[in-house]
Amino acid sequence: MESPEFCSDSQNGESAFADVPFAPEPLVYAVMAAFREDPSPLKLNLGIGVYRTEEGKPFVLDVVRRVEQLLVNDLPAIKENRVATVQCVAGCGSLRVGAEFLAKHYHQKTVYIPKPTYSNHPNFFSSVGLVVKTYRYYDLATHGLDFQGLLEDLSFAPPGSIVLLQACGHNPTGVDPTIQEWEQIRQFIRSKGLLPFFDSAYQGLVSGNLDADAQSVRLFVTDGGESLIAQSYSKNMGLYGERVGALLIVCKTAEVAIEVESQLKLVIRPMYSNPPIHGASMVTAILKDREMYNEWTSDLKKMNDRLINIRQKLVNTLRDKGTPGDWSHIIRQVGMYSLSGLSQDQIAFMTKEYHVYMSSDGRISMAGLSSRTVPHLVEAIHAAVTRVI
Ligand SMILES: Cc1ncc(COP(=O)(O)O)c(C=O)c1O
Repeated sequence: MESPEFCSDSQNGESAFADVPFAPEPLVYAVMAAFREDPSPLKLNLGIGVYRTEEGKPFVLDVVRRVEQLLVNDLPAIKENRVATVQCVAGCGSLRVGAEFLAKHYHQKTVYIPKPTYSNHPNFFSSVGLVVKTYRYYDLATHGLDFQGLLEDLSFAPPGSIVLLQACGHNPTGVDPTIQEWEQIRQFIRSKGLLPFFDSAYQGLVSGNLDADAQSVRLFVTDGGESLIAQSYSKNMGLYGERVGALLIVCKTAEVAIEVESQLKLVIRPMYSNPPIHGASMVTAILKDREMYNEWTSDLKKMNDRLINIRQKLVNTLRDKGTPGDWSHIIRQVGMYSLSGLSQDQIAFMTKEYHVYMSSDGRISMAGLSSRTVPHLVEAIHAAVTRVI
């Protein structure tokens, strides 16, 4: 493994997006652009519906300024204007826009996704003509991370390959690398010049803490190298139908970020032109108001505690019943999901005899369980593993 000093290496060298050309603004924004460029002291902009003070200045609320400062101090990439950000249609939309941008402007057309992963992942990339390959992720024997397999498979990736990483709460396995493993993955990816593309769909739902769940992404962002991040608010704000998300592309320089953002707009315009505003306004309001933000994070903690509690209850009840097998991995796994190890036939049996519905890969969505329903699931699992071999 590389030494920790490697960190700064990724800042050196050419940006992967250095050749992305600037896309001019659409005509509809021409009036605004002309206003900006007009040097006259008499100029008056009556075109946009944005609140201004008596002095004609934008009004920035104190609380917003304070929260923003907290964020900026935390992340140099934001401070240095190196992050191109576009609001997208939830996590899926962010992944799809990112994939299309890469297909158009990135030199390497191969993307590596974990095996197994969210079933929609291959579609985002194959639908824009990228070549999808997989890297080992889950060790069936330990029900944990196949760390060596992951590194070995990525060592065969052609230089510059895109690597999709789930930031936390891996779907469907519930298995995340430790922070030490993330650091080794980071060093490996940077040393091979691979491009990380994070899918952050469960931030806050693994530890109950937004910062702790962002550690993997922040390791990569603070090393100065380039990364893509698809951020979803569907699960952690319970805004499934509102479809709120964002794609962030962390670039090496502010100039490249401007070019990248201009091209992202060109990807979005023919797709859906503009994202819906309603859900995003709610997310913005929560993120900008300290009191509401605190309420949200304390709700996240409660949601998370319930998930952890239900995992424990399920395993205890399986043990008490004497159900054959070691189910301790259900407690070790994190977030919303657990890959139970139940076979396809066992699941079909559980559906037919016990009306338990789950995906055929054996994934249990923990959030669908409650203290009341754990005994029923345990009955079903017990019958399945003793009767369907
Ligand atoms: C890993 C992962 N990424 C992305 C998504 C899609 O999220 P969204 O509903 O925000 O589009 C999901 C949804 O299940 C997911 O599990």
